[in-house]
Amino acid sequence: MSVPHFLTLLDLPSSDVLEIVSRAIELKTNPAAANNQSRKTLGLIFEKSSTRTRVAFEVAMTQMNGASLFLTSGNSQLGRGEPIEDAARVLSRMVDCVAMRTFAHNDLERFAAYSRVPVINALSNDFHPCQLLADMQTFIEHRGSISGKRVAWVGDGNNMCQSYINASSVFDFELNIASPADFSPDSDLLAANSDRVSVSTSPRQAVADADLVVTDVWASMGQESEKAKRLIAFADFEVSGELMSLAKADALFMHCLPAHRGEEVTAELLDRDASVVWDEAENRMHSQKALLEYLLN
Ligand code: CP
Ligand code: NVA
Repeated sequence: MSVPHFLTLLDLPSSDVLEIVSRAIELKTNPAAANNQSRKTLGLIFEKSSTRTRVAFEVAMTQMNGASLFLTSGNSQLGRGEPIEDAARVLSRMVDCVAMRTFAHNDLERFAAYSRVPVINALSNDFHPCQLLADMQTFIEHRGSISGKRVAWVGDGNNMCQSYINASSVFDFELNIASPADFSPDSDLLAANSDRVSVSTSPRQAVADADLVVTDVWASMGQESEKAKRLIAFADFEVSGELMSLAKADALFMHCLPAHRGEEVTAELLDRDASVVWDEAENRMHSQKALLEYLLN
């Protein structure tokens, strides 16, 4: 049987992704129910910074009696030019699962192609599927099923936005994206999901009657040199209490964090009851634990 990978939400059967989220909700209330992963090791390879994703994986493995080890390109031979394919062949003979945070999404695909063990995308320039497990868990915990609901994405057509596009088909919701003209998500991805995903340059239009409003930073990791240009391009895309008032009265607000108060979101909105960003962050641990349980067993 071929090894399952989780490079995007579409790599696993949709029913399994839904089950992972249900299991995460269960493990949150009953952590002791998690399967024992003693003698199992998760390898973490991070080319970019992380707080939530790394801590969630390491704590999840610790709580399941497994181990994890943390590598970067700076402290491994990857940074000295060892081919990704060779690193995959070697590491996957020693560890039981690998979670990798990269720039190029293709680096993850190359690693997975040569790995004997499951590979998880811990964020690439194109997708951040682990965050979507936590976001879906958080919505379901607060409001029940997201099927048939209306989600608004306001901001950059980045890795998070593109993961929301994938999630719209897996979890069956409508997604209205508002991005500045030059910052739309991938056109092929949009075309493949045109039945449930729309794009405009109007945050007000996207947020109208939404059940969930989501945003993210305007300059992602690796785009630091574009920050000044992006601050200008995204000036009208801040999510505020006033913008949220166009959504449904019980609409939730999410942000994968870290957030820049006064840029993509107002400080005031982040602290409102509608903002579930702290639950969302906590759920990274429960959902990644459920994902690890699924891939390791
Ligand atoms: N949301 C998220 O992935 O956070 P980190 O970059 O801290 O892992
Ligand atoms: N879009 C952001 C998400 C950070 C969790 C980035 O890639 O930097």
